[in-house]
Amino acid sequence: MDAILRPKLFDFHGVSMTKFFTENWENIQNFQARPDDILIATYPKAGTTWVSNILDLLYFGQREKPIPIYERVPFLEIFHSAMGSVYVARNAKDNVVSYFHFDRMNKIEPEPGDWSSYLQRFKQGEMVFGSWYDHVSNWWKKKQTYSNLHYMFFEDMVEDTGREIDKLCSFLGLTPSVEEKTRIVGEVHFDKMKKDDMANYSTVPVLNFKISPFMRKGKVGDWKNHFTVAQNEEFDEDYKTKMKDPTLQFHVE
Ligand code: A3P
Repeated sequence: MDAILRPKLFDFHGVSMTKFFTENWENIQNFQARPDDILIATYPKAGTTWVSNILDLLYFGQREKPIPIYERVPFLEIFHSAMGSVYVARNAKDNVVSYFHFDRMNKIEPEPGDWSSYLQRFKQGEMVFGSWYDHVSNWWKKKQTYSNLHYMFFEDMVEDTGREIDKLCSFLGLTPSVEEKTRIVGEVHFDKMKKDDMANYSTVPVLNFKISPFMRKGKVGDWKNHFTVAQNEEFDEDYKTKMKDPTLQFHVE
């Protein structure tokens, strides 16, 4: 077991990665999607599990037998399954805070170190899955030319989950009944998912929930409890140099 824990980060085609997401690369590259497949794309910790649970409930309803979320909606890089795309973006500051706590509790992520060095590495893109800045920007660019891509924001989902599910359904061509939609909104509420062992990753042994829960806070603005004033100023300066497209805007509170 120890051999797989705290893996090394290495450069993979210009993106920082660990072996867990690259070993199957040839298969992933040759993977042929069917037109009705749905790809959920996010930078880590932007709301993957949330949107996975929404989509699973929309398509399959309540499962008779409990199945963990990572089997209902598998990771293409790990399990090789999965074409419309659903991208989920989260503001950089909350995203890095969430990622930090996740890396503390997830032994198959590289050691996070202390918060201030972690923040530096996030800015430099030395994270598993590389640069947040490139990730959200490149998918945003893709959206301008690719109509089969739905770009969602974590912050909008926190503001009004039902409204965002309506937009998602209209993209997917789904028309759930009012009852069904109300049920799904209830089912994917943070408090419900936190308690739901089939959605909260509590069944995964490499995660140490004593350090931090997977369903940690689910909030917008938690970064304020982590960034010092100086860190925030430096972050904003650096952000301006990296995020040049004025049409891509995030809510941070
Ligand atoms: P926090 O660490 O800020 O709480 P991912 O699924 O991409 O790994 O993202 C995990 C983040 O999404 C965690 O953020 C988690 O709490 C949050 N999250 C998951 N389900 C949620 C929900 N139903 N409502 C709000 N936030 C949710």
